[in-house]
Amino acid sequence: MKLQNNTILVTGGASGIGFELATRLLEMGNQVIITGRNQNRLDEAKKKLKRVHTIQHDVSNAESITSLYITVKEQFPTLNILINNAGIMRKINLHDATRSLEDLSLEIETNLTGTVRMNQQFLPLLKSQKNAAIVNVSSGLAFVPFPISPIYGATKAGVHSYTRSLRVQLKNTSVNVFELAPPPVNTPLLNNFEASDAKGVPVMSVADLAKIAIKGIERDRFEIRPGASNLLKIINRLSPALGLKMMSGSVNRMIAPIK
Ligand SMILES: NC(=O)c1ccc[n+]([C@@H]2O[C@H](COP(=O)([O-])OP(=O)(O)OC[C@H]3O[C@@H](n4cnc5c(N)ncnc54)[C@H](OP(=O)(O)O)[C@@H]3O)[C@@H](O)[C@H]2O)c1
Repeated sequence: MKLQNNTILVTGGASGIGFELATRLLEMGNQVIITGRNQNRLDEAKKKLKRVHTIQHDVSNAESITSLYITVKEQFPTLNILINNAGIMRKINLHDATRSLEDLSLEIETNLTGTVRMNQQFLPLLKSQKNAAIVNVSSGLAFVPFPISPIYGATKAGVHSYTRSLRVQLKNTSVNVFELAPPPVNTPLLNNFEASDAKGVPVMSVADLAKIAIKGIERDRFEIRPGASNLLKIINRLSPALGLKMMSGSVNRMIAPIK
């Protein structure tokens, strides 16, 4: 797919992978809209990227998705690429009885339900364009569980499965369905983690990740698995038990204090 002269919406585009993608896509001659919950962060992004458009929005909230759609349809009727990038990732100790049930499923509402709802809401507009795309950002953890972040891994496996089904259901439309499954990337998402939490899995720079993602989309590679993500998929195919063992080391530290 050509990545020039498109109108592109990047959820969670004020930081990390979304911001880097927005920066490059603007440089390549696209109109780019970024969203996020935090207005200050959107304003900071706007200072750095003068031509970017910003809209405050919470992907975990159905009403916020509908109002975003109404705004975008009116102000950017040529929107033809939706990048579902917004996401959160937390360490969650399942022994912790103080965590509320609402809090426990926040990653599901954001990473999985948010992605599913955004696509459903934006599909009529995307389908009306001659050439359109959805890019769902999953993770290398879509292929192997990461027990220290059990809900996150489940959401990304869910995004992976859903994306494959979506691609089949949209096969006779103008909408191409991509999945970007990043490996660990140096963004604020990893701030709550220690290097030893995913020992042996190399961290990629956000610039390299964006470069690979853009090349993948341009070459119509519908499942983009940079670096360690591809390795995790292969390991999981050869030996799911080995993959799980590799990703389980860090959980011992987490569950040790609670007996
Ligand atoms: N970094 C990695 O190692 C890695 C690896 C694999 C996959 N990924 C995936 O890549 C995507 C981007 O993550 P990142 O690494 O770039 O982390 P990041 O810098 O923390 O970016 C996440 C963005 O999502 C936004 N966001 C979070 N919750 C939101 C909500 N409810 N509604 C709207 N926006 C929301 C955040 O902005 P606000 O807080 O202002 O809302 C933030 O800008 C995520 O889906 C993540 O799971 C990252």
